Amino acid sequence: MRSCDFNPYVELMYGEYKDWAFSEEATNFKGFWRSEIFQVPEETPVDLEIGTGNGYHFADYVKRHQDRRVIGMELKYKPLIQTIRRALREGSENARMLRLDAGRVSELFREQEVNNVFIHHPDPWPKKRHNKNRLIQPQFLTNLYSVMKPGSFLEFKTDHYGYFQWAIKCFQDSAFELQFFTEDLHNSFRSDENFVTQFEKIFIQKKQPIFYARLRKTQ
Ligand SMILES: C[S@@+](CC[C@H](N)C(=O)[O-])C[C@H]1O[C@@H](n2cnc3c(N)ncnc32)[C@H](O)[C@@H]1O
Repeated sequence: MRSCDFNPYVELMYGEYKDWAFSEEATNFKGFWRSEIFQVPEETPVDLEIGTGNGYHFADYVKRHQDRRVIGMELKYKPLIQTIRRALREGSENARMLRLDAGRVSELFREQEVNNVFIHHPDPWPKKRHNKNRLIQPQFLTNLYSVMKPGSFLEFKTDHYGYFQWAIKCFQDSAFELQFFTEDLHNSFRSDENFVTQFEKIFIQKKQPIFYARLRKTQ
């Protein structure tokens, strides 16, 4: 009999999807994502999506950018498997998933190994005493900046105004150039090219605005 904490998605990750999703062993690939894992020339762009959820944006992006390689990070097994399945179902083999905390980017990537980064609707941790758990923190931004290539961008969006204000302050104090931000993404010039994620849909239905920022690593 199976124990009550049996999680079929754990089995899938280490079984059927073992070549597509990694956990702790991924730290061994630092500096070798292009040469060893994707087996592509060093100039091939490698993008990163943090907190893919069930992967609608990830699968769409991966499919539309077959010339790029894309790594997703997701802490929970079920959405992680949903993400990689969705991409593979679309016939895309240019993607991998990591079941690791995004706070560990420096352990996973060497300096300037990553191109563009997407962070869509990260957990807001709204209670003041929980703010310390938010992904966007000064040290995290320093680490992310370091692993990104000059000229690449960071796309951030959230449905939580308190988190947005927190993030903008962190962005302004970071080495990134804050290129653009809006308190109403869907009524901004970025609306046409925006992909509506699953979480975003919920807030659009509630007629709540989406907060958006785009940053650049200039040098
Ligand atoms: C609110 S959901 C948003 C999902 C998706 N991006 C969307 O917009 O629909 C946030 C996701 O980030 C994942 N997550 C939270 N903290 C994370 C971390 N430190 N590293 C990687 N993933 C994380 C959660 O498991 C969850 O699936």
